[in-house]
Amino acid sequence: MSELDCTLRGESGPALLLVHGFPLDRRIWNGVVAKLPPSIRLILPDLRGHGKSALPPGPCTIDDYGRDLLELMDKLSIPKFFMAGHSMAGYILFALHRLAPDRIAGGALVSSRALPDNEDGRKAREATAQRAEKEGPGFLASTMPERAVGTAPPPGVLDTMRTVIRSANGKGIAAASRAMASRPDATPQLPKIAFPTVVFAGRGDKIVPPAESEAMAKAIPGAKLVWCEKSGHVPMLEEPDLVAQELAALVS
Ligand code: MLT
Repeated sequence: MSELDCTLRGESGPALLLVHGFPLDRRIWNGVVAKLPPSIRLILPDLRGHGKSALPPGPCTIDDYGRDLLELMDKLSIPKFFMAGHSMAGYILFALHRLAPDRIAGGALVSSRALPDNEDGRKAREATAQRAEKEGPGFLASTMPERAVGTAPPPGVLDTMRTVIRSANGKGIAAASRAMASRPDATPQLPKIAFPTVVFAGRGDKIVPPAESEAMAKAIPGAKLVWCEKSGHVPMLEEPDLVAQELAALVS
């Protein structure tokens, strides 16, 4: 287990856990947080090895990231909560669905997917892990932001991403890459998801093909698919108003 550094807003009301993706940290939610009503209690952790959270020694799995979140919610005495997970954190939401489905009041899968990596994908993850261990996050800071955004990102989005990725922890990136590579296929879980779910898909996502998000939404009973027409892979940065509006509707 890992003790997670987090930002808390509010002490009562429905609890919404906002979880960043790879190789980012809680700051990516700032624009969404500013638009969410104060009646929603917010918890924004940095995942282990990301932002201000330490990386415990040894390898870890996607389920370990899920266990960290459950431990955090135990500490805060929050038995049931909503969770929005961006990309890798969508994989972690599936881990929570495997580990503790009764604790989830509702979920949002933001630019995420249920399918696991294929063999080429796993090899690329290992190459990323080894490079991050040797060089740190610089190579991702210079390549990933352009890939992550749509055709016309709002001013400041690329700079925010570069700043966040530049400050990432090389070992945390390596651990997350390997955890994602070994994650199970979540497709068989989809028809069993019983909590209200929103799936956000960026029309111009070059990292998670939007068709995969669409198929995932269709397989989850009652899920709402929200198309983010002006977004690539990071709608919380590209269309924060829309994301906040849909999250507020999920939670209310
Ligand atoms: C993320 O945004 O968390 C990652 O791009 C997900 C992935 O690489 O599968």
